Amino acid sequence: MPIQMEDIRTKYGLPPHEEILAALDNGETLPAPFYFAPEIHRLEQEQIFAKSWQYACHESAVAKPGDYAVTRAGAVPIIVTHGRDGELRGFVNVCRHRLHAIAEASGNKPLLQCPYHGWTYGLDGKLKTAPRSQREKKFDCSTISLEPVSVERWDQWIFVNPDPAAEPLSSFTNDIRTHSDQLNSDLREYEFQVRYEYDMNCNWKLWAENAVECYHCPTLHKSSFGKTYHTSPDDYTVDSTDHTIWHDGPIKWLPGDVDPAGLEGFRFAFTFPSSFFALDDYVGFIGSVQPVGPEKCWAFVDMYAKPGADPIIVKEWLDMWDRTLIEDKKATDIQQIGYNSGRVRTGRLLLDSESPLQSFMRTTVNALAM
Ligand code: FES
Ligand SMILES: [Fe+2]
Repeated sequence: MPIQMEDIRTKYGLPPHEEILAALDNGETLPAPFYFAPEIHRLEQEQIFAKSWQYACHESAVAKPGDYAVTRAGAVPIIVTHGRDGELRGFVNVCRHRLHAIAEASGNKPLLQCPYHGWTYGLDGKLKTAPRSQREKKFDCSTISLEPVSVERWDQWIFVNPDPAAEPLSSFTNDIRTHSDQLNSDLREYEFQVRYEYDMNCNWKLWAENAVECYHCPTLHKSSFGKTYHTSPDDYTVDSTDHTIWHDGPIKWLPGDVDPAGLEGFRFAFTFPSSFFALDDYVGFIGSVQPVGPEKCWAFVDMYAKPGADPIIVKEWLDMWDRTLIEDKKATDIQQIGYNSGRVRTGRLLLDSESPLQSFMRTTVNALAM
């Protein structure tokens, strides 16, 4: 049954759309129910995650015919396959029999067999065989296929969009490419190293909001990110458009006696709703945060190293990023307790330092059209 906006407003005492936007303009955060209401979580799945491009994996996960990679785009489990004809395809990773997952982990197989009752699909998503189906009077395998999703490659990265009729991926990557070219920074030559994953006990927006501001960097990350980069407002710049938030800041400290003068420094982009990209002169990453429930989310971050970069610094930097992201997880999990308290309805932003949050929250509210 479609969710009724009016019912959500009444149940949680939310003001009309225009009043929420006006409060954001005045530096208030979104009201607390945005961070725990199951109805808003469901609406976000329908209105945002079901129709957005989201980062899935590095191309190495589906490099050869027969390779398949499992991921999620919001609530939608997705499988990306590399067919024998060389085509990359994406499907909802849900069997058409009784909706078990076709694959629970990535791998390489000529056919995809659902582990529950053995229905077997081609890498093109078409049902090939179903045990005992020949005993049925009316059962035609050729009429059944996995549900398609959109999949596209951007340089060495694979993106998915649950909407099979999605706009081309370039509609959102063009902005990043233009900006990263202007910044003379690009991840496309960097080499994949490792995937980090984090399970959070918080609404996905708290984690995303943490990612789009660096006001917290000198305190929360004083021995990690805040030690590595200059994060004062005079050194560190942030900039937002409706769908993309940019950061850049200089490197402050390097292991050994390396002088950071002349280095490009840190560059970061967050694209609504959930994908993010970053690099400096040594490492880079690309990842995604995904809602799992109203108060749970999951983030994965694929780490890259610049070809030829000093391996001692690369190792130190990969470790610094893991510590930074664990610190973020701890903070956002604790924020969720605050949002659940029922006693503090909204937060108050410092707009000089936290304006990207306004942009992120405004885009969220507009996408929900409430
Ligand atoms: S659910 Fe897949 S074969 Fe039964
Ligand atoms: Fe952080």
